[in-house]
Amino acid sequence: MDKFIINGGKNLSGKIPVNGAKNAILPVMAASLLAKGKSILHNVPYLNDIKMMSHVLRVIGAKVDYDDKTLEIDTTNCSFFEAPYELVSKMRASIYVLGPLLARFGQAKVSFPGGCAIGTRPVDLHLMAMETLGAKIEIEHGYILASCKKLKGNEITFKKNSVGATANALMASVLARGVTIIKNAAIEPEITSLIDFLIKMGAQIEGKGTKNLTITGVPKLKPVEMTMIPDRIEAGTFLVAGAITQSKITITQCVPEHIKSPIDNLKKTGFRFEIKKNEITIYPTKIIKPVNITTLPYPDFPTDLQAQFMTLMTLANGQSIIEETIFPDRFMHVAELNRLDADIQIEKNTATVTGVKKLSGAQVMATDLRASAALVLAGLAASGETTISRIYHIDRGYERVEKRLQDLGADIKRIQG
Ligand code: UD1
Repeated sequence: MDKFIINGGKNLSGKIPVNGAKNAILPVMAASLLAKGKSILHNVPYLNDIKMMSHVLRVIGAKVDYDDKTLEIDTTNCSFFEAPYELVSKMRASIYVLGPLLARFGQAKVSFPGGCAIGTRPVDLHLMAMETLGAKIEIEHGYILASCKKLKGNEITFKKNSVGATANALMASVLARGVTIIKNAAIEPEITSLIDFLIKMGAQIEGKGTKNLTITGVPKLKPVEMTMIPDRIEAGTFLVAGAITQSKITITQCVPEHIKSPIDNLKKTGFRFEIKKNEITIYPTKIIKPVNITTLPYPDFPTDLQAQFMTLMTLANGQSIIEETIFPDRFMHVAELNRLDADIQIEKNTATVTGVKKLSGAQVMATDLRASAALVLAGLAASGETTISRIYHIDRGYERVEKRLQDLGADIKRIQG
């Protein structure tokens, strides 16, 4: 298993471009199953999660090719409607094939996802949406068996905000007979991107960007070509890299509007920004002020930046409170940050972070995707050497992150294991 070795305390400078958004690409890859033929996606980074979803689609019978940030998915010969345990257990987003398979082929067998490092993650809302559209759902031997003659439009009301369930409901309803209304839909930019893709395919969807969506089913969709949106979580992570190393860096190829809440919170901590249409420059500050955050659905502070922001707060001049409302157990990074001399206490879903003068390098272990990003950020700021093991987690969501940080002047290297 590969490791990172970071010699911290170096200033960063320069520009760092943001890649395409993994969490926008994964549902769109699944949505390509809705039409027969070849869809082409641009601005796709070479990430383990993308490789994993490619694998899921290949099992189903699609031909998937990747070259130079372009992903081609040919769904002409799909004939096996299953996402097996071996793949779903490695990547929960495999559940995204449920809606498209049901909608196009009337059947799907998807392994029940187990728990994961950030806590129990049920799929009841996905299943409720499919049942509301008329699918028969059975759970057998750890698998979700879903079937239908033809899905039928209906009203789906989500009692809780769910990105994944909204995506599945959308992908299932676009080919359903009649009208579907989705109430309390997620409005994350990744959902808006999926809606753009579906509309390009020929779907009829009204209410984009709002919590109420109206979908009028169409008999058939066509394959399309689309350029994927930039990754807002990667952009936010790089901003914290600038902040925690007290550096002036510019994040390019991003959509500043998508990370308004993280930027507003970084402003409260004292950092200054210059924001252009697709670029953000962060400037250093003398003192990092403590700021309390609560993770909430978009457009509020994203859970996927909680660990990174907490890392910055370990060096704040005082105490900050971080409340996690999306995944209440998402604190695996805390014990590792405390190994680097941070002072963080957890009580239920709330972390109290007492700022320390400095972090000091140590050996730590990555436990999930965003936790590993947080440890890299901590390593960049810590004095001395930080060794991070199990970095395959970070490869799921950040393409060659060490190379890109080296380009900014960071002393980070990958040791192949
Ligand atoms: C997606 C993102 C993930 C992000 C999360 C929240 C992808 C591939 N992953 O995950 O990075 O952290 O959104 O922004 O895009 N829930 C239920 N029942 C369900 C589904 C969800 O109770 O059937 C709960 C979850 O446990 C959680 C909350 O709803 O507490 C939100 O989860 P959801 O938005 O569905 O997250 P994902 O789509 O899995």
